[in-house]
Amino acid sequence: MEIKLVKSGGFCFGVKRAVDVALKSADEYKNKNIFTIGHIIHNNDIVKKLEERNILHVKLEDVSKIKESVVILRSHGVEKHLIELLKKNHNIIIDAICPFVKKIHEIVEKLVNEKYFVIIIGDNGHPEVKAIYSFTNKKESLIVSSPESEEFIDFLQKKNKRKIGVVAQTTQYFKNFKEICEKLIKIKGEIRVFNTICDATSKRQKETVDIAKKVDIMIVIGGKHSANTTRLKELSMKYLDSVYHIENKDELQKKWFKNKKTVGITAGASTPQFVIDEVIATVKKF
Ligand code: F3S
Repeated sequence: MEIKLVKSGGFCFGVKRAVDVALKSADEYKNKNIFTIGHIIHNNDIVKKLEERNILHVKLEDVSKIKESVVILRSHGVEKHLIELLKKNHNIIIDAICPFVKKIHEIVEKLVNEKYFVIIIGDNGHPEVKAIYSFTNKKESLIVSSPESEEFIDFLQKKNKRKIGVVAQTTQYFKNFKEICEKLIKIKGEIRVFNTICDATSKRQKETVDIAKKVDIMIVIGGKHSANTTRLKELSMKYLDSVYHIENKDELQKKWFKNKKTVGITAGASTPQFVIDEVIATVKKF
């Protein structure tokens, strides 16, 4: 079997940075409790590794219970009021938010100050989007997941906004972003569009599609709750039926590869290199 590997698969800059920052904090604050709010990245192997270094995660509803500890802010951001609460409770905040995500927070704050209505193109309920939304003033903002979404159609019909600022979740499909913006620019007035889709994501998606078009089976490695990994799976499925989303080598099944000559392997931004290497080694044995 020939293996075609997506070169830009695996840890992106922001995730690598967040994991490095967390491990450094474990060395620096040996005598303190160290927490992350939710999982620092969507990867169980890394979460386990951090737990071994005494870095534990807490649920959002338990954030108020963290006091006088060290708290690492995850790569895709944390809601503003939670950061304020953590500060109030005398915690040491370690900022591991990806600089590209932070940039979106800054843009949104600026738009709010300049009285723009803020549109966030993203998946409603995703932690990154919730964090971005927390920098708006809520009343004058809207999360739009698709051009067909009810709220968006309703918004377009009202057409009563004269100053609109638009940002996107870093992992958005460019096509979705473009279609929403195309509808927005028909509104009379001022529209400021910030393309905040991360290059690492679009590059990985493009390479994944290029490979999915050429292979008999596609293996997508990454956390089952990872939005960017799920997108890689969805994109691959447009070109072939044999697409399998796995978290690590243990989920591979030999029968999937029967009569297949070419295998494509891609991985989400939260997948460590050693997990990718183990999958490649196992596939080679089949
Ligand atoms: Fe940052 Fe882009 Fe990764 S926004 S966390 S470098 S996917």
